[in-house]
Amino acid sequence: MTINVASIKKDFPIFGRLIRGDNRLVYLDSAATSQKPNSVLDAERDFYTLHNAAAHRGAHQLAEEATELYEGARERVAQFLGATSEEVVFTKSATESINLVAYSLSNAEPGSKFHIAAGDEIVVSEMEHHANLIPWQELCRRTGARLRWFSVNDDGRLDLSNLDAIINKKTRIVAITHQSNVLGTINPLDSIVKAAHAVNALVLLDACQSVPHFKVDVANLGVDFLTFSGHKMLGPTGVGVLWGRQELLDEMPPFLTGGSMIENVTMESATYLAAPKRFEAGVPNMAQAVGLGAAIDYLTNIGLDAIHQHEIDLTRRAIEGLRSISGLTFVGPTDVSMRGGVISFEVKGIHPHDLGQALDQYGIAVRTGHHCAWPLMRRFGAVATTRASFYLYNDLQDVEDLVGGVERARAYFLER
Ligand code: ALA
Repeated sequence: MTINVASIKKDFPIFGRLIRGDNRLVYLDSAATSQKPNSVLDAERDFYTLHNAAAHRGAHQLAEEATELYEGARERVAQFLGATSEEVVFTKSATESINLVAYSLSNAEPGSKFHIAAGDEIVVSEMEHHANLIPWQELCRRTGARLRWFSVNDDGRLDLSNLDAIINKKTRIVAITHQSNVLGTINPLDSIVKAAHAVNALVLLDACQSVPHFKVDVANLGVDFLTFSGHKMLGPTGVGVLWGRQELLDEMPPFLTGGSMIENVTMESATYLAAPKRFEAGVPNMAQAVGLGAAIDYLTNIGLDAIHQHEIDLTRRAIEGLRSISGLTFVGPTDVSMRGGVISFEVKGIHPHDLGQALDQYGIAVRTGHHCAWPLMRRFGAVATTRASFYLYNDLQDVEDLVGGVERARAYFLER
């Protein structure tokens, strides 16, 4: 299974530019946000140029076209996930999707199966990025529930040795990442989902770092909710997805309220539509959803299995190359089983920000810092790491440039 990176790169206009003088762009920060192919840029532009109107409002031709395009994007997302359209809610980001679920639970009345109160427990893990941690801390604060978490082993894998103690009769929801944005670890879900469902707890999967990179089928995973953002998978910013099992979404209280999500309104009260509309108040982010639909077409056309295999190959080569650099240590698993194309590392004697700046001078874009995952950084005794992340438009030359760049930076900082 191989992909033709040279031809893929031609679809992304950003690879035509130069960085910090005359360096080619070596973009290794796709875990933060991905670059966009022409087809996505065109889809957004065409929406505004040719079809712009408010979806689900108005009887004119443009409104009809806008509605068809917006709903067409929803169908593409549903197909991509092995779901139905009614189960796909468009939000502005994965962060909003997670907040939607957390706020919906705390909006539930006592007596509702979604109601959360003191005595209940919410489970997360130590490897969550803040988007899948703080909404649950806040839910606990609003309701009196207790937050519990799985810790992380030294090798960057979840410690599930106390699974039955952490997920117990008091557990109401387990919110866990599919793939760590710092460690690259892909979490084993079967035992977690089984333990959660055995005590009637819900499972939310933060799939921000998985859905863009390998085939994710919601029916096979058996989770109850799944969230991701468009911009990490070649799509525009400003669009995220919440997938939820339909019977849950239809009964959950809304998060944001207003136009489009109502069934009937009087001066005193309102009743709400079924999902997904119940969760899409206001004029929707149509152009962004349409752009996401185009991104899904692009990824599907290349093939998620081929993309995943390509990223595993790059990751293996990068780990091999970086491993030989004196003073470099990895934060995360170094065997490529059950891990994705995100590599975090430290180089003794060089602050990650200095290393990042040096790499930038050679045209290499990596992320440095805490990666919005402070508790995980503390777990590994790191203030920050340098993180390289791969996608379908990276090739072995990018890996060689990264390894060479780190060596060059090391020589500059430590051997002068
Ligand atoms: N969560 C994103 C990252 O890992 C922003 O960089």
